[in-house]
Parts: sequence; structure tokens; C-alpha cells
Amino acid sequence: MPVRYNQTVNNRQLSPIDRLLSGANDALRTVAAPAGRPARDNPAESIAETELSATQKSHAAGLMRVNHAGEVAAQALYRGHATVARNEAIEQQMQHAAAEEFDHLAWCEQRIRELGEEPSRLSPIWYAGAYAIGAASGILGDKWSLGFIAETERQVCAHLDSHLDGLPAEDTRSRVIVEKMRDEEAEHGESAVAAGAAELPDTVKKLMQITAKVMTRTAYWV
Ligand SMILES: [Fe+2]
Ligand SMILES: [Fe+2]
Repeated sequence: MPVRYNQTVNNRQLSPIDRLLSGANDALRTVAAPAGRPARDNPAESIAETELSATQKSHAAGLMRVNHAGEVAAQALYRGHATVARNEAIEQQMQHAAAEEFDHLAWCEQRIRELGEEPSRLSPIWYAGAYAIGAASGILGDKWSLGFIAETERQVCAHLDSHLDGLPAEDTRSRVIVEKMRDEEAEHGESAVAAGAAELPDTVKKLMQITAKVMTRTAYWV
């Protein structure tokens, strides 16, 4: 029976070396292809494949590769935040979100392969960069860490809405995955706000947008 990925380990019960190994395991599981099996079924599972032209397929694969890269970064951000979270409830909330993000990651990867392409070859770079940003903002304190998550999820929702505009109307399988992801990203953002997220300065928000743009423009192609 295939192993389904589910984060049930409480990091606080682990020794420092076990934490390090657990973190390395999360990183490898995220950037390795194929990713492990998702904990929840792919929302596109019961939807029939539709006929797409070669151009539509390649465009949809590019957009789903961008989404997959975003999910690699989301894994790293949440794991990075959780590693340095001061409050146990917040750490658990972040691990829960990371588990949902892992499903998004696996669903995107499945869709990219169905479209005949591969995930971004730069996944280790997306992971390392986002992990560092997650841990660095977490070190400033939980309210900033939550603020960073709330703003990230806001930007991700806007980005996914733009992909729903850009994906071929016929590509129902990609669309239902993106819709499900967008709903859950909104919930992650709302949970972060409810847990006490601080509002980030405008310059930081702008910087986050620029960083995301570099990643999304690159991952569309490689
Ligand atoms: Fe996600
Ligand atoms: Fe999310």
C-alpha cells in the first residue's frame, strides 16, 4: 500500500538532530520528483480529460509548473516558519497548512505530467530561498511570521485568479485543481490573520511581489 504523506510529528518532541533530519526529509520529499502521494485525492480525479491543442497543452503545463514552483516555495516557507515559531499552536497551524500545501504540490505535479511536461528543474533553489525567508521572518516573532504568511497567501490568491483567467477554458482538470488550491490558500491567509498576523510595511509587500515575479516568470519556462 503506498505511503501517504501526513505531518503528524510534533517537532517539539524531537531532539535538535532529529529536527534537522526531519527538516532535511521535508526538503528532499518536496524537491524530489515524483513527490510522495498526497494525503487527499486529486480534485481532478473524477473529471474526464479534454482534447487540447499542442499550444494549449504547453501553455497549461507552463502555468501549472509555475503553480508547482509556488507550492515548493510554500512548503519551504511554512516549514521554515514552523521551525522557529515560538507558540506551539501556531507551529501546529503552520504544519497543518504545510500538509495541505503538500497535496497542492502533488496535484500540480500530476497535472504537469499528464500534460506531457516536467516540474521546474530549479525546485531546490525555490525551496532553499523560501526556507531562508520563512525562517528569517519567523525569527522576528510570530506576529511577523503570520503577517508574512497572510500577505503571501493574499498574493498567491490573486496570482491563482490570474491563472484561472489564463488557463484554457477547455482544461477542466487543471482548473479544478487551481480552484481548490485558491480556496485553501484563502483559508490559510484567514487563519494567519485570525492568529494575530501583523500588517507588513508596503515596501516589504512590494519586495515580495518582485521576488514572486522572478520565480513565476522563470518557472514557466524551466
Ligand atoms: Fe498551496
Ligand atoms: Fe496556502
